[in-house]
Amino acid sequence: METIFDMPSRVLFGAGSRFRLSEELRRIRVSRVLLVTDEHLRDKGIIRSFEEHLKDAAIDVTVFSDVQPDPTDQNVETGLATLQNCNAQAVVAIGGGSVIDAAKVIAVAVANPEPLAAFQGYHKIMNSGLPLIVIPTTAGTGSEATKAAVITDTQRMVKMMMLDAKLMPRISIVDYELSMTMPAALTAHVGVDTLVHGIEAYVSKRSNGMTDPLAISCIQLTARHLLTAYREPENRQAREAMALAACQGGMAFSNSSVCLVHGMSRPIGAIFHLPHGFSNAVLLAAVTRFSLPGAPERYAHISRQMGCCDGRVSDERAGELLVEGLENLNAQLGIPKLRSALKVDQSQFESHLRKMADDALASGSPQNNPVVPTPDQIAELYARAW
Ligand SMILES: NC(=O)c1ccc[n+]([C@@H]2O[C@H](COP(=O)([O-])OP(=O)(O)OC[C@H]3O[C@@H](n4cnc5c(N)ncnc54)[C@H](O)[C@@H]3O)[C@@H](O)[C@H]2O)c1
Ligand SMILES: [Fe+2]
Repeated sequence: METIFDMPSRVLFGAGSRFRLSEELRRIRVSRVLLVTDEHLRDKGIIRSFEEHLKDAAIDVTVFSDVQPDPTDQNVETGLATLQNCNAQAVVAIGGGSVIDAAKVIAVAVANPEPLAAFQGYHKIMNSGLPLIVIPTTAGTGSEATKAAVITDTQRMVKMMMLDAKLMPRISIVDYELSMTMPAALTAHVGVDTLVHGIEAYVSKRSNGMTDPLAISCIQLTARHLLTAYREPENRQAREAMALAACQGGMAFSNSSVCLVHGMSRPIGAIFHLPHGFSNAVLLAAVTRFSLPGAPERYAHISRQMGCCDGRVSDERAGELLVEGLENLNAQLGIPKLRSALKVDQSQFESHLRKMADDALASGSPQNNPVVPTPDQIAELYARAW
């Protein structure tokens, strides 16, 4: 099967690479930008230092910080109006996956008049947008290296998955020093998101020779360094490794696919507003157990790469040990079952199961899973995560 591999035209990686932003903008002849971020990061002062950096290089900046975690269509519309007012030549995103995704869609919406819901799905965006430069502050969603964006449709309460090469950042600047201020819980949630990207890219029916090495590297790095980054926020080696894992995981899944964990995680996020990485984490072990029979060798390889078993055990046993290892990882990262995180009781949760299962399947991701579930099986998996 032919494969297509998209990635940013340029990735700068390393401590201090953020100070190259103005140089990179000059290189592509940009002197007026919209800087997209969120209120929390703006309050922390990091955005001020970027504004000064850009002003020193005579680059005009308009800051748009009205992006909420799990960005909405309304956030994008307001950002688009700000962009049109300031007439920027490029969009710069500084933040986590939420900020980056909102910026991606703002940058293409300016060149495409359709309502945002028209971009949902695969390859639905007609025209290229403005150049996009992204600087992630979490490690991470990998959005800095993906052609995907996830925007909540507030009318339908659906997290719309958009996948199109026109959403790919032109330049990504991955400076792990920015991720060192992440609190422990955020480190844990986005770190598990990274791991799920690696695992799903590797077991996806659309995995390929370009994405496999990136997916395996992402899995190995996360297995070796996530717990250290969680326990020792100042550990530079662990932070650097997680930033690399996130970026590689992004490149892998955006050219392979995510599967059932992500398919099921988005409806939880849309209805109950749980952090994306957290809703992935609570599903990961149960979905892995369900999916093992569809790709026993691939799961066994993951298990060995993560150090859940050695090379002598059978593939079947390696798969079981992987599920145990994933449950263990959640426990060590302080990630509880769904019932302790949601503000609803079990019967309220169950009343949403049918819509959640339908929305999960409609997203297209579960169809790439090693075992493609029925709506009833999805509902049962949700019930297990409770
Ligand atoms: N496009 C993709 O390829 C892709 C992949 C995975 C997830 N996502 C999306 O990304 C979003 C989640 O992004 P996220 O997990 O990075 O979190 P986020 O962007 O939602 O940020 C969560 C919170 O952490 C704060 N924060 C960010 N960086 C920080 C730092 N360095 N120090 C302290 N606080 C910081 C933010 O201000 C925010 O309040 C979801 O909407 C998810 O659907 C997109
Ligand atoms: Fe994700």
